[in-house]
Amino acid sequence: MRLLVTGGAGYIGSVVAARLLEEGHHVTVLDDLSEGHRDAVPAGARFVQGRIHDAARVIDGAGFEAVVHLAAFSLVGESVEHPARYEENNVLGTARLCNAMQTLGVNKIIVSSTAAVYGEPDVAIITEETKTAPVNPYGSSKLAIDNDLSRRTHAGEFAAISLRYFNVAGAYGPYGERHRQETHLIPIALEVALGKRASLTIFGDDFPTPDGTCVRDYIHVLDIANAHVRAMAALEVGYHDIVNLGNGSGFSVQEVAEAVRNVTGHPLPTEIGPRRAGDPAVLVASNERARTHLGWIPEYPDVTTMVEDAWRFAQERGA
Ligand code: UFG
Repeated sequence: MRLLVTGGAGYIGSVVAARLLEEGHHVTVLDDLSEGHRDAVPAGARFVQGRIHDAARVIDGAGFEAVVHLAAFSLVGESVEHPARYEENNVLGTARLCNAMQTLGVNKIIVSSTAAVYGEPDVAIITEETKTAPVNPYGSSKLAIDNDLSRRTHAGEFAAISLRYFNVAGAYGPYGERHRQETHLIPIALEVALGKRASLTIFGDDFPTPDGTCVRDYIHVLDIANAHVRAMAALEVGYHDIVNLGNGSGFSVQEVAEAVRNVTGHPLPTEIGPRRAGDPAVLVASNERARTHLGWIPEYPDVTTMVEDAWRFAQERGA
Protein backbone atom coordinates (compact mmCIF):
# COMPACT_ATOMS: atom_id res chain seq x y z
CA MET A 1 0.00 0.00 0.00
CA ARG A 2 1.00 3.64 -0.42
CA LEU A 3 1.26 4.96 3.13
CA LEU A 4 1.84 8.28 4.85
CA VAL A 5 3.65 7.82 8.18
CA THR A 6 3.56 10.94 10.33
CA GLY A 7 6.27 11.11 12.99
CA GLY A 8 8.38 8.61 11.05
CA ALA A 9 11.60 10.34 12.11
CA GLY A 10 10.91 9.67 15.78
CA TYR A 11 11.77 6.70 17.97
CA ILE A 12 8.69 4.53 17.44
CA GLY A 13 7.83 6.04 14.05
CA SER A 14 11.19 5.14 12.53
CA VAL A 15 10.78 1.49 13.56
CA VAL A 16 7.20 1.44 12.26
CA ALA A 17 8.31 2.96 8.94
CA ALA A 18 11.17 0.45 8.65
CA ARG A 19 8.87 -2.51 9.27
CA LEU A 20 6.24 -1.24 6.80
CA LEU A 21 8.97 -0.88 4.15
CA GLU A 22 10.16 -4.41 4.89
CA GLU A 23 6.59 -5.60 4.33
CA GLY A 24 6.65 -4.09 0.85
CA HIS A 25 4.63 -0.92 1.47
CA HIS A 26 5.53 2.42 -0.13
CA VAL A 27 6.22 4.86 2.68
CA THR A 28 6.28 8.65 2.80
CA VAL A 29 7.36 10.11 6.14
CA LEU A 30 5.97 13.47 7.26
CA ASP A 31 7.80 14.86 10.30
CA ASP A 32 8.58 18.40 11.46
CA LEU A 33 11.80 17.22 13.15
CA SER A 34 10.82 18.98 16.38
CA GLU A 35 11.68 15.75 18.17
CA GLY A 36 12.65 13.34 15.39
CA HIS A 37 15.92 13.10 13.48
CA ARG A 38 16.34 13.25 9.71
CA ASP A 39 18.82 10.36 9.78
CA ALA A 40 16.27 8.18 11.59
CA VAL A 41 14.02 8.13 8.51
CA PRO A 42 14.62 4.71 6.97
CA ALA A 43 16.32 4.56 3.60
CA GLY A 44 13.65 3.72 1.08
CA ALA A 45 11.11 6.13 2.54
CA ARG A 46 10.36 9.45 0.91
CA PHE A 47 10.77 12.29 3.42
CA VAL A 48 8.76 15.50 3.70
CA GLN A 49 9.57 17.95 6.48
CA GLY A 50 6.42 19.58 7.76
CA ARG A 51 3.63 19.69 10.32
CA ILE A 52 0.54 17.51 10.35
CA HIS A 53 -1.48 20.74 10.22
CA ASP A 54 -0.25 21.16 6.66
CA ALA A 55 -0.73 17.54 5.63
CA ALA A 56 -3.22 18.44 2.88
CA ARG A 57 -0.46 19.55 0.54
CA VAL A 58 1.39 16.24 1.09
CA ILE A 59 -1.72 14.08 0.71
CA ASP A 60 -3.11 15.89 -2.34
CA GLY A 61 -2.46 13.83 -5.45
CA ALA A 62 -0.09 11.37 -3.72
CA GLY A 63 -2.47 8.39 -3.92
CA PHE A 64 -2.12 7.35 -0.28
CA GLU A 65 -4.33 4.44 0.75
CA ALA A 66 -3.85 4.91 4.50
CA VAL A 67 -2.15 7.09 7.11
CA VAL A 68 -0.17 5.83 10.09
CA HIS A 69 -0.22 8.75 12.50
CA LEU A 70 2.45 8.80 15.19
CA ALA A 71 3.42 12.50 15.19
CA ALA A 72 2.60 14.02 18.58
CA PHE A 73 4.05 15.79 21.57
CA SER A 74 4.39 13.13 24.28
CA LEU A 75 6.02 14.52 27.42
CA VAL A 76 3.73 14.26 30.42
CA GLY A 77 5.56 16.91 32.46
CA GLU A 78 5.69 19.38 29.58
CA SER A 79 1.98 18.86 28.96
CA VAL A 80 1.21 19.95 32.52
CA GLU A 81 3.25 23.13 32.09
CA HIS A 82 2.08 23.91 28.55
CA PRO A 83 -1.34 22.32 28.00
CA ALA A 84 -2.13 24.59 25.06
CA ARG A 85 0.76 23.08 23.08
CA TYR A 86 -0.81 19.65 23.46
CA GLU A 87 -4.22 20.90 22.43
CA GLU A 88 -2.81 22.70 19.43
CA ASN A 89 -0.34 20.09 18.22
CA ASN A 90 -2.01 16.82 19.14
CA VAL A 91 -5.76 17.49 19.09
CA LEU A 92 -6.08 20.25 16.48
CA GLY A 93 -3.23 18.85 14.38
CA THR A 94 -4.87 15.43 14.21
CA ALA A 95 -8.27 16.94 13.41
CA ARG A 96 -6.72 18.87 10.53
CA LEU A 97 -4.93 15.75 9.33
CA CYS A 98 -8.20 13.80 9.36
CA ASN A 99 -10.06 16.66 7.66
CA ALA A 100 -7.45 16.68 4.90
CA MET A 101 -7.69 12.91 4.53
CA GLN A 102 -11.49 12.96 4.28
CA THR A 103 -11.51 15.88 1.86
CA LEU A 104 -8.95 14.19 -0.36
CA GLY A 105 -10.47 10.69 -0.22
CA VAL A 106 -8.07 8.85 2.11
CA ASN A 107 -10.24 6.96 4.60
CA LYS A 108 -8.00 4.72 6.69
CA ILE A 109 -5.91 5.73 9.71
CA ILE A 110 -3.91 4.01 12.44
CA VAL A 111 -3.19 6.32 15.37
CA SER A 112 -0.80 6.14 18.33
CA SER A 113 -2.68 6.37 21.58
CA THR A 114 -1.39 5.75 25.09
CA ALA A 115 -1.91 4.09 28.45
CA ALA A 116 -2.03 7.66 29.80
CA VAL A 117 -5.72 7.85 28.79
CA TYR A 118 -6.52 5.52 31.71
CA GLY A 119 -4.97 7.80 34.32
CA GLU A 120 -4.57 6.00 37.63
CA PRO A 121 -6.88 2.99 37.29
CA ASP A 122 -7.66 0.85 40.32
CA VAL A 123 -7.58 -2.43 38.39
CA ALA A 124 -4.62 -4.80 38.16
CA ILE A 125 -4.94 -5.38 34.42
CA ILE A 126 -6.16 -2.61 32.11
CA THR A 127 -8.55 -3.60 29.34
CA GLU A 128 -9.97 -1.30 26.68
CA GLU A 129 -13.18 -1.24 28.74
CA THR A 130 -11.38 0.24 31.73
CA LYS A 131 -12.68 3.72 32.46
CA THR A 132 -10.65 6.48 30.81
CA ALA A 133 -9.67 9.23 33.24
CA PRO A 134 -6.44 10.93 32.15
CA VAL A 135 -4.55 12.80 34.86
CA ASN A 136 -2.50 15.06 32.58
CA PRO A 137 -3.04 17.10 29.38
CA TYR A 138 -0.98 14.63 27.35
CA GLY A 139 -3.38 11.80 28.20
CA SER A 140 -6.37 14.11 27.69
CA SER A 141 -5.14 15.11 24.25
CA LYS A 142 -4.85 11.47 23.17
CA LEU A 143 -8.30 10.67 24.55
CA ALA A 144 -9.78 13.63 22.66
CA ILE A 145 -8.23 12.23 19.48
CA ASP A 146 -9.66 8.77 20.13
CA ASN A 147 -13.12 10.24 20.76
CA ASP A 148 -12.94 12.28 17.56
CA LEU A 149 -11.98 9.16 15.60
CA SER A 150 -14.99 7.31 17.03
CA ARG A 151 -17.30 10.07 15.84
CA ARG A 152 -15.73 10.20 12.37
CA THR A 153 -15.90 6.44 11.85
CA HIS A 154 -19.45 6.13 13.13
CA ALA A 155 -20.52 8.90 10.78
CA GLY A 156 -19.54 6.80 7.80
CA GLU A 157 -16.74 6.37 5.35
CA PHE A 158 -13.78 6.30 7.70
CA ALA A 159 -11.75 3.47 9.28
CA ALA A 160 -9.58 3.92 12.36
CA ILE A 161 -7.57 1.89 14.84
CA SER A 162 -6.09 3.49 17.96
CA LEU A 163 -3.14 1.59 19.40
CA ARG A 164 -2.67 2.36 23.10
CA TYR A 165 1.00 1.85 23.85
CA PHE A 166 2.20 1.04 27.32
CA ASN A 167 5.95 1.51 28.11
CA VAL A 168 7.81 1.19 24.83
CA ALA A 169 11.47 0.12 25.10
CA GLY A 170 14.34 -1.42 23.15
CA ALA A 171 15.69 -0.67 19.68
CA TYR A 172 15.57 -2.20 16.21
CA GLY A 173 18.72 -2.15 14.08
CA PRO A 174 19.81 1.49 13.62
CA TYR A 175 16.55 2.86 15.10
CA GLY A 176 16.29 3.62 18.79
CA GLU A 177 15.46 6.14 21.47
CA ARG A 178 17.32 9.46 21.40
CA HIS A 179 15.11 12.15 22.78
CA ARG A 180 16.48 15.65 23.17
CA GLN A 181 15.03 15.71 26.64
CA GLU A 182 15.22 12.22 28.16
CA THR A 183 12.65 11.31 30.82
CA HIS A 184 12.23 7.56 30.38
CA LEU A 185 13.60 5.01 32.78
CA ILE A 186 15.65 2.68 30.58
CA PRO A 187 17.50 5.35 28.52
CA ILE A 188 18.26 7.28 31.72
CA ALA A 189 19.63 4.14 33.40
CA LEU A 190 21.78 3.48 30.31
CA GLU A 191 23.14 7.03 30.50
CA VAL A 192 24.40 6.12 33.98
CA ALA A 193 26.02 2.98 32.54
CA LEU A 194 27.68 5.12 29.85
CA GLY A 195 29.09 7.47 32.52
CA LYS A 196 26.91 10.40 31.47
CA ARG A 197 25.08 10.51 34.81
CA ALA A 198 26.31 9.61 38.28
CA SER A 199 23.25 7.66 39.41
CA LEU A 200 19.63 6.77 38.76
CA THR A 201 17.04 8.45 40.94
CA ILE A 202 14.13 6.12 41.70
CA PHE A 203 10.96 8.18 42.00
CA GLY A 204 9.52 6.72 45.17
CA ASP A 205 9.85 3.35 46.92
CA ASP A 206 6.69 3.48 49.03
CA PHE A 207 4.14 2.42 46.43
CA PRO A 208 1.82 -0.52 47.19
CA THR A 209 3.89 -2.92 45.04
CA PRO A 210 6.07 -5.91 46.06
CA ASP A 211 9.30 -3.87 46.28
CA GLY A 212 7.69 -0.45 46.73
CA THR A 213 8.66 0.88 43.27
CA CYS A 214 6.29 1.44 40.35
CA VAL A 215 5.39 -1.44 38.07
CA ARG A 216 5.08 -0.88 34.33
CA ASP A 217 4.31 -3.04 31.31
CA TYR A 218 7.41 -2.69 29.11
CA ILE A 219 6.89 -3.59 25.47
CA HIS A 220 9.53 -4.00 22.78
CA VAL A 221 9.43 -1.34 20.05
CA LEU A 222 9.64 -4.08 17.41
CA ASP A 223 6.51 -5.72 18.84
CA ILE A 224 4.83 -2.29 18.73
CA ALA A 225 5.84 -1.87 15.07
CA ASN A 226 4.62 -5.35 14.20
CA ALA A 227 1.23 -4.49 15.70
CA HIS A 228 0.99 -1.61 13.19
CA VAL A 229 1.71 -4.01 10.35
CA ARG A 230 -1.09 -6.25 11.63
CA ALA A 231 -3.45 -3.32 12.19
CA MET A 232 -3.08 -2.30 8.55
CA ALA A 233 -4.91 -5.47 7.56
CA ALA A 234 -7.60 -5.06 10.24
CA LEU A 235 -8.93 -1.59 9.28
CA GLU A 236 -12.68 -1.67 8.60
CA VAL A 237 -14.63 1.26 7.20
CA GLY A 238 -17.28 2.49 9.64
CA TYR A 239 -15.46 1.04 12.64
CA HIS A 240 -13.05 2.47 15.23
CA ASP A 241 -11.10 -0.19 17.08
CA ILE A 242 -9.13 0.64 20.21
CA VAL A 243 -6.40 -1.79 21.15
CA ASN A 244 -3.98 -1.87 24.10
CA LEU A 245 -0.41 -2.85 23.31
CA GLY A 246 1.43 -4.37 26.24
CA ASN A 247 2.79 -7.72 27.38
CA GLY A 248 0.27 -8.29 30.13
CA SER A 249 2.96 -8.42 32.81
CA GLY A 250 4.90 -5.77 34.68
CA PHE A 251 8.38 -5.05 35.99
CA SER A 252 9.22 -2.74 38.87
CA VAL A 253 11.73 0.09 38.62
CA GLN A 254 14.07 -1.97 40.83
CA GLU A 255 13.72 -4.96 38.50
CA VAL A 256 14.52 -2.80 35.47
CA ALA A 257 17.57 -1.40 37.29
CA GLU A 258 18.72 -4.95 38.00
CA ALA A 259 18.27 -5.90 34.33
CA VAL A 260 20.39 -2.88 33.37
CA ARG A 261 23.13 -4.02 35.80
CA ASN A 262 23.07 -7.54 34.36
CA VAL A 263 23.20 -6.36 30.74
CA THR A 264 25.77 -3.58 31.10
CA GLY A 265 27.94 -4.96 33.91
CA HIS A 266 27.75 -1.48 35.47
CA PRO A 267 26.90 -1.30 39.20
CA LEU A 268 24.24 1.35 38.42
CA PRO A 269 24.06 3.25 41.70
CA THR A 270 20.55 4.34 42.61
CA GLU A 271 19.11 6.78 45.08
CA ILE A 272 15.54 7.10 46.24
CA GLY A 273 13.87 10.40 45.41
CA PRO A 274 10.35 11.67 45.95
CA ARG A 275 7.47 10.36 43.89
CA ARG A 276 6.99 11.99 40.49
CA ALA A 277 3.64 13.74 40.15
CA GLY A 278 1.01 11.65 38.40
CA ASP A 279 2.87 8.30 38.52
CA PRO A 280 0.36 5.48 39.13
CA ALA A 281 1.69 2.52 41.16
CA VAL A 282 0.93 -0.14 38.55
CA LEU A 283 0.09 0.02 34.82
CA VAL A 284 -0.27 -3.34 33.12
CA ALA A 285 -2.21 -4.01 29.91
CA SER A 286 -4.50 -6.79 28.93
CA ASN A 287 -3.44 -7.71 25.39
CA GLU A 288 -6.35 -10.05 24.79
CA ARG A 289 -7.94 -7.74 22.23
CA ALA A 290 -4.66 -7.26 20.37
CA ARG A 291 -4.37 -11.01 20.09
CA THR A 292 -7.93 -11.59 18.93
CA HIS A 293 -8.54 -8.49 16.78
CA LEU A 294 -5.08 -8.09 15.25
CA GLY A 295 -3.70 -11.62 15.51
CA TRP A 296 -0.74 -10.04 17.29
CA ILE A 297 1.46 -11.81 19.81
CA PRO A 298 4.39 -10.06 21.48
CA GLU A 299 7.58 -11.85 20.48
CA TYR A 300 10.08 -10.06 22.75
CA PRO A 301 8.38 -9.86 26.18
CA ASP A 302 11.57 -10.22 28.22
CA VAL A 303 12.70 -6.89 29.66
CA THR A 304 16.33 -8.09 29.45
CA THR A 305 15.99 -8.33 25.66
CA MET A 306 14.66 -4.76 25.57
CA VAL A 307 17.54 -3.51 27.71
CA GLU A 308 20.08 -5.45 25.60
CA ASP A 309 18.77 -3.90 22.39
CA ALA A 310 18.61 -0.41 23.88
CA TRP A 311 22.15 -0.85 25.26
CA ARG A 312 23.54 -1.93 21.88
CA PHE A 313 21.89 1.10 20.28
CA ALA A 314 23.16 3.50 22.97
CA GLN A 315 26.72 2.21 22.61
CA GLU A 316 26.65 2.38 18.81
CA ARG A 317 25.47 5.98 18.96
CA GLY A 318 28.07 6.76 21.62
CA ALA A 319 25.08 8.49 23.14
N1 UFG B 1 11.42 6.41 36.77
C1 UFG B 1 12.33 6.56 37.79
N2 UFG B 1 13.43 7.34 37.55
C2 UFG B 1 13.65 7.97 36.35
C3 UFG B 1 12.70 7.80 35.32
C4 UFG B 1 11.59 7.02 35.57
O1 UFG B 1 12.18 6.03 38.89
O2 UFG B 1 14.67 8.68 36.21
C5 UFG B 1 10.25 5.56 37.02
C6 UFG B 1 8.93 6.32 36.89
O3 UFG B 1 8.59 6.91 38.12
C7 UFG B 1 7.99 5.19 36.49
C8 UFG B 1 8.88 4.22 35.70
O4 UFG B 1 10.22 4.57 36.03
O5 UFG B 1 7.53 4.52 37.63
C9 UFG B 1 8.72 4.38 34.21
O6 UFG B 1 8.84 5.76 33.88
P1 UFG B 1 8.94 6.28 32.38
O7 UFG B 1 9.11 7.76 32.44
O8 UFG B 1 9.97 5.49 31.64
O9 UFG B 1 7.53 5.90 31.76
P2 UFG B 1 6.06 6.32 32.26
O10 UFG B 1 5.47 5.07 32.82
O11 UFG B 1 6.03 7.51 33.09
O12 UFG B 1 5.44 6.77 30.88
C10 UFG B 1 4.81 5.92 30.01
C11 UFG B 1 4.88 6.51 28.61
C12 UFG B 1 4.09 7.80 28.54
C13 UFG B 1 2.70 7.56 29.07
C14 UFG B 1 2.73 6.97 30.44
C15 UFG B 1 1.36 6.62 30.94
O13 UFG B 1 6.21 6.76 28.25
O14 UFG B 1 4.02 8.23 27.21
O15 UFG B 1 3.48 5.77 30.42
O16 UFG B 1 1.37 6.65 32.34
F1 UFG B 1 2.04 8.73 29.13
